[in-house]
Amino acid sequence: MTDISGWKDKILFTPGPLTTSKTVKTAMLRDLGSRDFEFIKIIKDIRVKLLEAGQVEGKGYEAIIMQGSGTFSIEAVLSSAIPPDGINFIIINGAYGKRIAKICDILKIKTLIYECPENTTPDLKEIDSVLKKNNDITTVSVIHCETTTGIINPIKEIGEIVSKYKKTYFVDAMSSFGAVPADLDECRIDFLVSSANKCIEGVPGFGFILAKKQSLLKTKGMARTLTLDIYDQWEGLEKNGQFRFTPPTHSLIAFHQALMELEQEGGVESRGARYKLNYQTLIAGMRKMGFKEYLTPEDQGYIITSFRYPLNSNFNFENFYEKLNKLDYVIYPGKVSNADCFRIGNIGRIFPTDVKALLAAIHNVLDEMEVSLL
Ligand SMILES: Cc1ncc(COP(=O)(O)O)c(C=O)c1O
Repeated sequence: MTDISGWKDKILFTPGPLTTSKTVKTAMLRDLGSRDFEFIKIIKDIRVKLLEAGQVEGKGYEAIIMQGSGTFSIEAVLSSAIPPDGINFIIINGAYGKRIAKICDILKIKTLIYECPENTTPDLKEIDSVLKKNNDITTVSVIHCETTTGIINPIKEIGEIVSKYKKTYFVDAMSSFGAVPADLDECRIDFLVSSANKCIEGVPGFGFILAKKQSLLKTKGMARTLTLDIYDQWEGLEKNGQFRFTPPTHSLIAFHQALMELEQEGGVESRGARYKLNYQTLIAGMRKMGFKEYLTPEDQGYIITSFRYPLNSNFNFENFYEKLNKLDYVIYPGKVSNADCFRIGNIGRIFPTDVKALLAAIHNVLDEMEVSLL
């Protein structure tokens, strides 16, 4: 038998999979049948709690859980909710916006792209003007927290414009949902996607879609795939509470526990407040050591922060990463396309004390590498 008594978790300062609580991990030590009454009750509970987290319980929205990572749920929405002759207007300021465009290319969905620099939020006037000029646009897609940099896009303001032109509005809120409060109805969102292993602090295994029911009903019969059909998936869950195909039972049980822990923490606002504290602790410490953030503070969200590589010839990211990893701190490589950066996530079951411990480790590693920033 494997002896797990000596196992020690590393602390993940990543955007997911991320550090989870011991109770969330322990919840997975159960085998439940996917058609078991208890499991069906768990699924029902999860779906209600997700709507609560999006502030739309009882407001004409539905929660659909989809097997796979978050991208599967994004692909599910794009391939189910955009009509064959539709046009997806994609607002891009990072790698995840580009991924939506790539999925559309593969699905042969026509797109219209508005790309702005990765360190700026999109210009609302430009969005309005594109929608005014292109009446054949059916859908508008945007990322909420573009995890490439950590920038937060103004989904409510964009939603007002999208609704003025009566288009379908899709938001990828993968790394923000559960920690950056947003009332989906107020933001005029038709479809929002996030996943288990982000701010709700569950383990990987599935994503979920929060859909305005009216918009969801229109997707009937439109899906390009069997497995990612959001209408059929929803109908199955509604009919008998079950999944059409094998669900990740253990990660769903863990997620149920994670949602209860979100409630115990005080809900989305309180979770956001803890992450904000993590973020403030992080940037204060990093700035003190001489690191510079990629974004200006006005655009920087509290989910994840991109730091520029220090201008010191002794600095080598792989080496830096490995040394921190040996000390049990996992940070994240950069994704910004035009600058050398690395990222540190503020989300997951981590607290300011963990961030302070990471900062001390970074200080020691820099000393060891003979990298002076000041
Ligand atoms: C904004 C955003 N979209 C999509 C994804 C992709 O999610 P997954 O890796 O679970 O497919 C991520 C992952 O971090 C993300 O941050």
